[in-house]
Amino acid sequence: MKELTLTNKVQTKDDKEKQSLLANAGEIPEHIAIIMDGNGRWAKKKGSIRLHGHKVGVDSVRDITEACAQLGVKYLTLYAFSTENWGRPTAEVRGLMRLLVASLRKEADNLHENDIKLVTIGQMDRFPADCQDELQEAIDLTAGNNRLQLCLALSYSGRWDITEAVKKIARHVDAGRLDPELINDQMITDHLSTANVPDPDLIIRTSGEYRISNFLLWQLAYSELYITERYWPDFRRDQLYEAIESFQQRDRRFGKIKNGEDENANNSRLHKN
Ligand code: FPP
Repeated sequence: MKELTLTNKVQTKDDKEKQSLLANAGEIPEHIAIIMDGNGRWAKKKGSIRLHGHKVGVDSVRDITEACAQLGVKYLTLYAFSTENWGRPTAEVRGLMRLLVASLRKEADNLHENDIKLVTIGQMDRFPADCQDELQEAIDLTAGNNRLQLCLALSYSGRWDITEAVKKIARHVDAGRLDPELINDQMITDHLSTANVPDPDLIIRTSGEYRISNFLLWQLAYSELYITERYWPDFRRDQLYEAIESFQQRDRRFGKIKNGEDENANNSRLHKN
């Protein structure tokens, strides 16, 4: 497979070894979702302005995207701007938008050359026109790619997502096309902005906050959670590997019990014998 060049750095032998050890140690999550938090605090600690934290945060995005693609992660969803983030000072919101446009302008070809598909979830129509245009261009350019799907959650919230799904389903009921008794889990899943994307296996949150902050509320039902004290600008591939290592230690039962632990099955076998 073609070498990845997102970070413009040749992958070191040491990094290749780490990735191969990780791949041999257990399952690599198919879908990783990340709450990138702590840019502001990181910048403040360095005596800098918040926007500097967001800028260095983009370097983390690049490094993590590249490492995920190399590891064979198929979906990476990044919480880049929440519905609630609109409530931040105008200067910070504008700065973030400018950063997003500049990053996309700079990275779109790079993403394309590396076979990465860019998609978004959220209320894109709330973004300034230039931002929407830049995003759309990158989305169109990379639409046919399939090594990794990079999804940016922009003006996104889990409650917004569920509300929109409910509205769509209610319209089917209203038009007489759907019996409400037929509404089930799968139908709701299929009406969310993430339809056709498997639920995240692993959700990472940086900066040591133990909350979900209105991220993929429906989709996270059985996701493994990993929280690290590191601020997002300091979260790079070695920290990603630690998160995946932790994921590989988890016992995912999806509400069921482990194979071989069904006492009743053993009993019935005893009775049969
Ligand atoms: C949270 O840190 C981070 C954000 C609200 C924005 C994250 C955005 C980026 C890293 C840039 C995204 C760019 C691309 C290309 C995807 P915070 O500001 O809430 O930090 P704090 O909790 O310390 O204040």
